[in-house]
Order: sequence, then structure tokens, then C-alpha cells
Amino acid sequence: MKRLAIPFFLMMYVMGTVNAQTKPAAKKSPVKTAPSAKTKATVAPAIKPQDIEEGKMLLTKSDCLACHKVDTKVVGPAYADVAKKYPYSAANVELLSSKIINGGSGSWGAVPMAAHPSLAAADAKKMVTYILSLNAK
Ligand code: HEC
Repeated sequence: MKRLAIPFFLMMYVMGTVNAQTKPAAKKSPVKTAPSAKTKATVAPAIKPQDIEEGKMLLTKSDCLACHKVDTKVVGPAYADVAKKYPYSAANVELLSSKIINGGSGSWGAVPMAAHPSLAAADAKKMVTYILSLNAK
């Protein structure tokens, strides 16, 4: 036991030394790039035409159109009105896609939107991207 314990301890020590040596070098680049990466994250990513197309297709396949139309209110708000209310941004895409998945009410009235728990977050985001792109037209 004693014989095993010593090399293990040595290894930890050596690894610790190696880590300590590589740390300063590794720290340099993230510190420099972090501020610009952060500001980029808050700015809306460019809308990809492909996401709009896919989002539109996903909407047609799901139950959304039973309650929503592009330019008239049905049970839920018209998508054009949703696009007017929420400018396209990473935060709004996040907010609305989680609302679609979790359901909820209060933004447009007392009628709740049904939850869509089986919807993948990535698909919900594409749907929202399509909806919010309606404002640009
Ligand atoms: C059962 C009817 C119904 C279905 C189905 C439905 N919605 Fe809704 N949706 C609503 C209602 C009602 C609201 C308004 C909720 C509110 O006032 O907060 C709404 C709101 C929304 C909003 C705006 C949310 C907000 O907070 O402003 C978006 C975006 C949306 N729906 C997208 C979708 C998508 C995408 C689908 C399909 C996956 C879908 N909806 C399916 C009824 C529905």
C-alpha cells in the first residue's frame, strides 16, 4: 500500500506543477476574447434564410395553425402582431420558444397557449425565427 501511495502522490504533485505552469498561458487568450464574445451574444444573430424556411415548415406540420394565422387573430395572436411586438433578438427567440414549449398566458389575454413539451428547443427556435421574420416583410 505504501509503495503505491507514493507514486500516486508524486503524480498528483507533478500534474499540479504542470497545471500551474500551463495556466498563465491558457488564461491569456480567453481574457482577451471574452469581451467581444459577450457583446456578440447580446446582439441578434443574423436570421438564416434556411431557419425561416424550416420554421415555416415545422409550423405547418405542428398544431400551431389551429390557433394562429399570419395576419388575423384566431385563438392566439396573429403572427404578424407577435413579430411587431417582439423585435428579432436572441433573447426574444429564447423567451418565445420556451413559451411555446411550456405554454402560458398573459401576454395577449387570459386564454392560455397549450404547452408543447415534445417540441425540440431547436425546432421551437426556428418557428420563432420564422414568426419574427414576418416583421421584416
Ligand atoms: C390551443 C391553441 C394554440 C395552439 C395550438 C398554439 N398556440 Fe400559440 N398562442 C395561443 C394563445 C392563446 C396565445 C396567447 C398567450 C398569451 O396571451 O400569453 C399564444 C401565443 C403565442 C406566441 C406569443 C407568446 C407571447 O408570450 O407573446 C407565440 C410565438 C406562439 N403562440 C407560437 C405558437 C407556435 C409556434 C405554436 C405551434 C407549436 C402555437 N403557438 C400553438 C394559442 C395557441
